[in-house]
Amino acid sequence: MAENKIEKHAEQLRRSIDHHNHLYYVLDSPEISDGEYDRLLRELIDLEEGYPSLRTKDSPTQRVGAAASTAFLPMIHRVPLLSIDNAMSYGEIQSFHSRVARWLEKDDISYCCEPKFDGLAVELVFEKGVLTRGGTRGDGITGEDVTDNLRTIRSIPLRLITDNPPELLEARGEVVMPRDAFSRLNHDRSLSGEPLFANPRNAAAGSLRQLDSRITATRNLVFFAYGISDPASIGLATQFEILERLGELGFRTNPDIRLCGSVDEVIAFATYMQEKRETLPYEIDGVVVKVNTVADQESLGVKARSPRWVIAYKFPPVQATTLVKTIDVQVGRTGVITPVAILEPVKIGGVTVSRATLHNAEEIARKDVRQGDTVIVQRAGDVIPEIVAPIKSKRLEDSHPFSMPENCPSCKSRLVKDGAHWRCVNISCPAVVKEGIYHFASKEAMDIDGLGRRLIHSFVDLGLVHDVADLYALKKEDLSALEGFADVSASNLITSIDASRKVALDRFVYALGILHVGSVAARRLSDTFKSLENIMDASYQDLCSIKGIGEEISRSISDFFANKHNYTVIRKLMDHGVEIISASHETIPMSPLKSKRLCFTGTLISMPRLEAKMRVEALGGEVVNSVSKHLDYLIAGDQPGSKLGRAASLGVAVLDEETFLEFLGGADADKG
Ligand code: IVH
Repeated sequence: MAENKIEKHAEQLRRSIDHHNHLYYVLDSPEISDGEYDRLLRELIDLEEGYPSLRTKDSPTQRVGAAASTAFLPMIHRVPLLSIDNAMSYGEIQSFHSRVARWLEKDDISYCCEPKFDGLAVELVFEKGVLTRGGTRGDGITGEDVTDNLRTIRSIPLRLITDNPPELLEARGEVVMPRDAFSRLNHDRSLSGEPLFANPRNAAAGSLRQLDSRITATRNLVFFAYGISDPASIGLATQFEILERLGELGFRTNPDIRLCGSVDEVIAFATYMQEKRETLPYEIDGVVVKVNTVADQESLGVKARSPRWVIAYKFPPVQATTLVKTIDVQVGRTGVITPVAILEPVKIGGVTVSRATLHNAEEIARKDVRQGDTVIVQRAGDVIPEIVAPIKSKRLEDSHPFSMPENCPSCKSRLVKDGAHWRCVNISCPAVVKEGIYHFASKEAMDIDGLGRRLIHSFVDLGLVHDVADLYALKKEDLSALEGFADVSASNLITSIDASRKVALDRFVYALGILHVGSVAARRLSDTFKSLENIMDASYQDLCSIKGIGEEISRSISDFFANKHNYTVIRKLMDHGVEIISASHETIPMSPLKSKRLCFTGTLISMPRLEAKMRVEALGGEVVNSVSKHLDYLIAGDQPGSKLGRAASLGVAVLDEETFLEFLGGADADKG
């Protein structure tokens, strides 16, 4: 092809990919399959590789991210991002309205009400319709330039959908991490021994501030637009029009927007959103109430750092006060020491909370939480309960600040500082060994049924088991000798240990418990290298070249296999008859869920959604969040939501929970 023809073709591909990206990530209604989308993208990547001069900054190929080594540059906002005053009660919404009415000398004021996202405010700069820069809010005047990271967020258009773009458009909005992405991320981090994020907002912030944008690209962040720096300059007269225009230009905007003609309607909307809050796929912490007319906004103006035309009503948090009985330190599988507050059990929002993580020593010092303190505990959505603050006036006189132990509570070896965390680096530490065995035996790993923490602790404490390989040398007599361990249970355990000997490569790699290697990374390694020998022989460069395996994971894998002790244990496992067969997803050819796209609505009685999702994925299916005509099954649990109606209107098959369980169970039967 002639050069200009190729250039045209590349441009066509880009347009088409942008279009399908918008359908999928902004409108939730894809028109082509993921496979077709990938093919288009692959073709463009190949073209651009052949002709690097064709590669443009706004090309969808630039969404994958790239490694950066320097810190972020400052981004100065042309028009400052102001903050908003809070209203903590409905009364304060009423006072806000009175102030506005007095100032404008009229009473009939229309308010545009929007959910208040609990994420991270960012600004995106589009020059002649092309995204050129984006940064965090920072202090409102200067933020951090995180353009490369923002480009990886699929709901951010890399160019605006318009034939007639404005010279300059500065769109503002919020980056959030949806609840399911958050649970998945934390689940993966717990499996690979990394510290957990406290809530989706922190996770979104941490993900957006990654120096390596390839990591950001994996975090499933979503951007919602809610404003423009200078609406009058592009002829928009109301906040409602701004939101509409942002939608037309290709941004995702919140579907729960309401125009309210009176303060009573505003309050009704706030009440409605507070009830709806828990059912949303992302977290909100209130409702933002904006005077709708831009001209009115301008006449109201700004005081100090916040405009007079907007207020944020904050939902009351779900909190309670209780007593810190003691502060325990736990040793994790990777030796990370996590302090945990053991609480006098207390009910918060219908759930009894008796423990709260304190994350690390710095967090405890910052909050100054002490044993014996009365503290405020908070639960937000499905997030791990956290201590907000101690109530200092109730502090006991003889209380003293918590100090982190200098030695491992299990093996007494000296702890080593590793970033914000303290770590026990003794690979033979009984606590680390026990957690390692527990992980090895877990369902997603070797799946040794019946081997729980209690038994593992006895085995290690009695010296029956020193490492995971020793499990395969256990005899029924060893177990029967244990106090309170019946003959039948002993036989059953030996049988399940035996059954785990034949194992798929990805499960085995995951079971090894290599730092940062969760089930997804293990699957990638297994798909790429096909055998354990190949993985062990892979160089750091080989590993880095695999999609989704970054430098940190590669370094960790190299270090793991370079360690003589690990090598010995793997040898010992093989000597005890552990045999790697094939990748697990190839062993379930008969699954009715293979290559099927599913979505859930309502509550499942038999298992949490996350587990359902993992089981579907283990059977080769995919779980998506929204109903479209490309969905194969909608699984309706108890009290299904609006997705049910949508599925019916699109003719998508709906399964009840029982049938869904049969699908899962049927595959289990095939496996055996
Ligand atoms: S409008 C001057 N709309 O709330 C008004 N802000 O407490 C500019 N926020 O930093 C902001 N959802 O991050 C606006 N629908 C929404 C919002 C929203 C969340 C955040 C924003 C801002 C913070 C102020």
